[in-house]
Amino acid sequence: MSFEAPQPLTNSENPVDGTRLVQAFIENIKAHDHLLDLGARDGWVEQMAFSKEPNLTVTAVDKMSDEELAKELIRSERVRDERITWVITDVVEYVRSLAKDQKFQGILAQNIFQFLDKKVVLKELLPRLQQSIAPGGQLAIRTFSAEPEPPFEKPFTSLYRSDDLLSLFPEQQWDIRINSANKLNLNSLRNDKRDFSLVDFQAVKKK
Ligand SMILES: C[S@@+](CC[C@H](N)C(=O)[O-])C[C@H]1O[C@@H](n2cnc3c(N)ncnc32)[C@H](O)[C@@H]1O
Repeated sequence: MSFEAPQPLTNSENPVDGTRLVQAFIENIKAHDHLLDLGARDGWVEQMAFSKEPNLTVTAVDKMSDEELAKELIRSERVRDERITWVITDVVEYVRSLAKDQKFQGILAQNIFQFLDKKVVLKELLPRLQQSIAPGGQLAIRTFSAEPEPPFEKPFTSLYRSDDLLSLFPEQQWDIRINSANKLNLNSLRNDKRDFSLVDFQAVKKK
């Protein structure tokens, strides 16, 4: 069994559970924020966020086609929300094409980096995403440090240690709110229980 030893949370009030990162992300959202969700699936996180802040602007990026998204929304019993702008493309291409002056107050990358090339994520995407966060804005990441148990048929492309992320966020510029690795028994999207070795990370850009 190989997973990182859990590290203490900087914010001990956040419970370590399946939605811990999402809760922390939503807690930090302010009225009129513009959020970016990478690998957003059906936009469930933003739909939760709208009940706290109804006037958010959201850009949701996912490679799912319109038809697949429609099926996902039916499956999750949600409706397409006008406040979400869907960009159907590859997240790497999307991040590469971001305008230099485009800023978001919050970026969420939950359960997506494990599908991408690690070198591209660490050397290219994360530096680019850091530039795209407005002062006071947040970046929240959940990804995997080991394959699930039992594993899926197809292994992930990349696995991460929380240090891989932390080393890119100098403390002069970033307030690290969450930096932990935990093994949690959660429902997968296939609705079966698995042990997931998760890295959760949340950083707020200092003003
Ligand atoms: C495991 S789901 C996670 C969804 C959501 N973020 C969550 O935490 O529930 C991964 C999502 O990322 C999308 N995805 C995977 N690789 C992608 C890529 N290279 N570009 C865009 N979307 C991608 C999939 O279509 C899927 O909707």
